Amino acid sequence: MKLILLGAPGAGKGTQAEILSAKLGIPTISTGNILRAAIKEGTSIGLEAKSYMDAGKLVPDSVIIGIVAQRLEQPDCSGGFILDGVPRTIGQAQALAQAGVTFDHVVSIEISDGEIEERMTGRRVCQNCGAPYHVKAKPPKVEGVCDTCGGPLVQREDDKPETVRHRLEVYHAETEPLKGYYEEKGILTPVDNQSTIEDTTKAIMEALSI
Ligand code: AP5
Repeated sequence: MKLILLGAPGAGKGTQAEILSAKLGIPTISTGNILRAAIKEGTSIGLEAKSYMDAGKLVPDSVIIGIVAQRLEQPDCSGGFILDGVPRTIGQAQALAQAGVTFDHVVSIEISDGEIEERMTGRRVCQNCGAPYHVKAKPPKVEGVCDTCGGPLVQREDDKPETVRHRLEVYHAETEPLKGYYEEKGILTPVDNQSTIEDTTKAIMEALSI
């Protein structure tokens, strides 16, 4: 299964990618997590990406395509993969197509901007592994500690209300047109966000008949 999860910032792509990855036994490739790890390590890619990410802007396509192409060459991707947060522009989608990368399904998680703005204030992420939590919808077993790796849970720099609003504008302008792009290819499946994480997973699995 080669799957893309599309959706606005905070739609639940990372949360669903983590669950589906475990269910399907295929890796998730999250460009957001890869970039945040590069910032933490202080690599040249991290240094370049940081100012874009903190401002809620997109990192240039050339940087993203390099990261994804390198990751897709790893042996664990040979049986399928889930892309979370990429492609994010028509240019990125075209570059992946030109590189011969094909997809079985593109799931677009549909949610209103109002719900996103409310939801982001409660998000916490693991500083080590990037796993997403929510103070109400998905609290960790021990407050402030990641269930998976024991790392500290923090609020993301780009989850401030004004940055979230800008990220939503960028999503509508740059990323939403991808829905039309993949609809034309006959592989787009829109799935409405549900009021719980479990119900959203169920809706995705039903829509994909998996
Ligand atoms: P990235 O990390 O990809 O951020 P994003 O797309 O903005 O998405 P998020 O991670 O914010 O949200 P999500 O949809 O994964 O939601 P989550 O599962 O956490 O990118 C960050 C930045 O990196 C970009 O702004 C850009 O600068 C750069 N970048 C990354 N990729 C790039 C690319 N390809 N090109 C250019 N630049 C790129 O869920 C959100 C919260 O809601 C959580 O707290 C969760 O617990 C909760 N939740 C989830 N589902 C539900 C539900 N059904 N009910 C209740 N709560 C729920």
